[in-house]
Amino acid sequence: MSEKRALFTTKIGVIAATVGSAVGLGNIWRFPYETGVHGGAAFLFVYLICVFLIGIPVICAEFIVGRGTHKNALGAFKQLQTKPYWQVCSYIGILASLMILSFYSVIAGWTLEYLFQALTGAMASGNTGDFSNKFNEFCTSPWQSTLWTVLFLLINYLVLRRGVEKGIERISNILMPILFVILILFSVNSLLMPKSSEGLAFLFSPDFSKITPTVVVGAMGQAFFSLSLGLSVLLTYSSYFSNQVRLVRSASIIAILDTFVAIISGIIIFPAVFSYGATPEEGPKLVFEIFPSIFSEMPGGYIWSVLFFVLLFFASITSTISMSEISIAFFVEEYKMKRKKATKLTTGVAIVFGVLSALSFGVLSGYTILDMTIFDILNYVSSNILLPIGGILFSIFVGWVVDKDFVKKELTNNGTIKVYTYRIIIFLIRYVAPISIVLIFLSGLNLIRF
Ligand code: PFF
Repeated sequence: MSEKRALFTTKIGVIAATVGSAVGLGNIWRFPYETGVHGGAAFLFVYLICVFLIGIPVICAEFIVGRGTHKNALGAFKQLQTKPYWQVCSYIGILASLMILSFYSVIAGWTLEYLFQALTGAMASGNTGDFSNKFNEFCTSPWQSTLWTVLFLLINYLVLRRGVEKGIERISNILMPILFVILILFSVNSLLMPKSSEGLAFLFSPDFSKITPTVVVGAMGQAFFSLSLGLSVLLTYSSYFSNQVRLVRSASIIAILDTFVAIISGIIIFPAVFSYGATPEEGPKLVFEIFPSIFSEMPGGYIWSVLFFVLLFFASITSTISMSEISIAFFVEEYKMKRKKATKLTTGVAIVFGVLSALSFGVLSGYTILDMTIFDILNYVSSNILLPIGGILFSIFVGWVVDKDFVKKELTNNGTIKVYTYRIIIFLIRYVAPISIVLIFLSGLNLIRF
């Protein structure tokens, strides 16, 4: 692990690595479909509040623990508090990261299939209905989507095993900005579509009566998922930050960039949804039915589609690497396993649950609990339950348990910089974040009503 520290000595490296983990399928795939399912602008409104009032302070809390100790998740808690129960934070992180890795790989597998289709020109023609039927056939077939899931996890394995994170990090430093530019180009294309105003109204004109506990729980879960929050990924990355990195500023930049990509994805998807006669409530399949329609109508659609899915693949793998690294580091450090073996174990677990998740769109679709398939359960429990619990624990730990001087030293870089938002951040970490997460949680479980 120690060789990684050198990687994050530049300011750009700090932002690129953390944004690499944050920006991924969560922004381009999950945000539009969650927004679609939860009624559009009202969801976006609550989402923004969650990012700024809960997301930024919890990122700061993870950064304080990580940068302040320069240790991995478990080591950091051991160093800061002798009470062993705080270590539960790192176990939650390991469990949640394995769950996310499993279902995330199914969607990353879909992007590989789409890349394949884009390369063979299959995406160049057809209408939304054709694409939707084809996609349904693809994800209900017992082997197709399973195969792509496994293939994605094997690629992830090879990258991790060879320890070429530096290479990937460097590649993503180049590719992530290209992805940003391309997304902006696509959004201009969508703004020119016939029903773009309907799409924009869906995304930006909130109907506040649509805000229900389910919407709020969904928005908070999306904020945690999209910012890679609550499972110690940001703690681990920040343990490689130098002492000059400004924590509050970095946390804000990450949250703003991540939110920007999510909103741009919405601006691409919803005008297209309305212009092509699709419905926003489609769920996880939404963007996979809409993107091919966009490409088939765009001039130079072939090139754009190939480029887009290559970039999306890279955005996914920089995220899966960050989530795999948590459990690999844990097995290596806690069970003294060899890195290769730990990587195999992590991949093995993800393959088992990934295959089950892939099959839950087809042959296993009947196996449900509370109307949720295996895929839905992994997705819901990790994002809407485990990550917020991680967030509560982090904010209480940093706000109330850790020595105040330690927190101040970290936020102000040992008193060398003036942080104008210092008091606000402390207030958010101590009160606003934990209380609002708990309230949202209880209302989601129907234990309290507003
Ligand atoms: N934040 C990533 C995304 O939006 O795609 C997903 C993610 C990465 C979640 C890393 C959790 C994690 F540890």
